[in-house]
Amino acid sequence: MPTSYKSFLRRCFFRSRRFRQTAGFLLRCLGYHRNLDLEHLAFYREEVLGPVQRDEALFLFSVLQLVKPRLVVEFGFLYGMSAFNFLRALAKDARLFSYEVDPAAFLRVRDEFTRDPRFQLLKKSQQDFHPSDIGFQSIDFLFFDGTHECEINRDTFRAVLPSLAPQAIVAVHDTGLWSLPAKPVLPASWATQDGGWLSADLFAHQAGERKFVNHILETYPEFSLIHFHSERAFRNGLTLIQKKESLALPKETRLVQAREL
Ligand SMILES: C[S@@+](CC[C@H](N)C(=O)[O-])C[C@H]1O[C@@H](n2cnc3c(N)ncnc32)[C@H](O)[C@@H]1O
Repeated sequence: MPTSYKSFLRRCFFRSRRFRQTAGFLLRCLGYHRNLDLEHLAFYREEVLGPVQRDEALFLFSVLQLVKPRLVVEFGFLYGMSAFNFLRALAKDARLFSYEVDPAAFLRVRDEFTRDPRFQLLKKSQQDFHPSDIGFQSIDFLFFDGTHECEINRDTFRAVLPSLAPQAIVAVHDTGLWSLPAKPVLPASWATQDGGWLSADLFAHQAGERKFVNHILETYPEFSLIHFHSERAFRNGLTLIQKKESLALPKETRLVQAREL
């Protein structure tokens, strides 16, 4: 292909969204690249309380695509928005177990939810987690989005700890703050039992989740945390937790020829 032609295609790629959409569609039709299974996110909302927000779902989707967990456990199914998002990102041989206590959610799973064989609903409370629920396997990714009560999450974490894989990632939802400049009008129906103002502009909508994360920080020094919060957007907030680990290094380093790798 002449350089000028390649340069023209690069310019179209970088400057035109329509070009990327059309070319991407054609290339997918011709089987040149895999379609990322992201269409579901068009139906997820940003201004929502309960389910994961669209951008949070996109972020969690990417984390799962990156680390390719074999076994995912979720606490809190509700309508299945987070569970469905996980399934879209998971490999064919992965499994997802979701704990839920609300009988209405059980009916939704039976009548509405995907029949994906990788998914299993566990009709029990998260704090009753037992390794036999998941066939005594290790959990690679764990999502806390069930109860918002710190004490229950604390007990659940203690119960689930021996089942976590050494490099397991734990995500806790609703750890952020609502920023009034980002969303000046909050619906009255969003009043949470455990909410409180930190300042005139910042509302902790689930103080129990923040307390839970602080508990992990104080009680388990072997774990490190990173928060995905923003005051520039209406955000429910996620915190990711993983055991601290220094990275193994080769005994000696040197420049290698490509063919030696
Ligand atoms: C915030 S919603 C979950 C939203 C869901 N993860 C999503 O993003 O679509 C919380 C759910 O947790 C469930 N729940 C509350 N307490 C629980 C417990 N102790 N064990 C398991 N599920 C619980 C509630 O019934 C509710 O459906």
